[in-house]
Amino acid sequence: MTSTRTPIIAGNWKMQHGGRSGCELAAAIRRDLADPRGVSVVVAPPFTALAAVSAELDGSAISVAGQNMHAAGSGAFTGEISAAMLKEAGASWVILGHSERRQLFGETDAGVAEKTGAALAAGLRPIVCVGETLAERDAGRTFDVVLAQVAAVTATLAPSAGHAIAYEPVWAIGTGRNATAAQAEEVHARIRALLAETSVALAEATPILYGGSVKPDNAAALLSCPNVDGALVGGASLDSRQFLAIVAAAHGP
Ligand code: PGA
Repeated sequence: MTSTRTPIIAGNWKMQHGGRSGCELAAAIRRDLADPRGVSVVVAPPFTALAAVSAELDGSAISVAGQNMHAAGSGAFTGEISAAMLKEAGASWVILGHSERRQLFGETDAGVAEKTGAALAAGLRPIVCVGETLAERDAGRTFDVVLAQVAAVTATLAPSAGHAIAYEPVWAIGTGRNATAAQAEEVHARIRALLAETSVALAEATPILYGGSVKPDNAAALLSCPNVDGALVGGASLDSRQFLAIVAAAHGP
């Protein structure tokens, strides 16, 4: 991390802790996060818990994110949620293009770009996820895939937009096999170089988070990389002590 970008630690609860247990987890994080010390802490509960978790965290330094949204503002889209609805429920962030959305629900680069633009237009801060599969990495296509995913959203971004990008190699998500610090840094640096082709200011302003089996014992090494500005945490975000240990790793020594 560099001192110019605020570190972000975001917890993606996925389809877990929807109701009362989500409020309990949020309350535990709030209680034990004595001082975020300049780290931006975000939790992303399921839609059903967004409003209650937001209320639980009201007045705290912890922000709330949606895990997905529809690009349209409203309309006949059964089962979908708009950016305005996420905001109304208390979210200030939204995770977009998570690999589970891309792989299991057919989300495309173009669709993620549309959602990113819609989120920003509505005043929500998108965390745009990118990452290669193991087959793509083994075929030597990591940079092609990841940079194409980033390029798809670059036109929607501006230095002051408040967005973040999360590099999440698909092979590292939920597997316990995290990218090494060197592997993460290599891809993060390439992402930042691509952003710099649009503008150096955009490259400098964009936090690039790493995600994929981030745990208390590997967080410090990953977060010490100059181009790793935070973490998007799945499994370890379901335990307040583990999550807060990762937040503490973002403080640095
Ligand atoms: P993980 O998930 O930390 O459980 O690997 C990360 C993510 O999916 O964002």
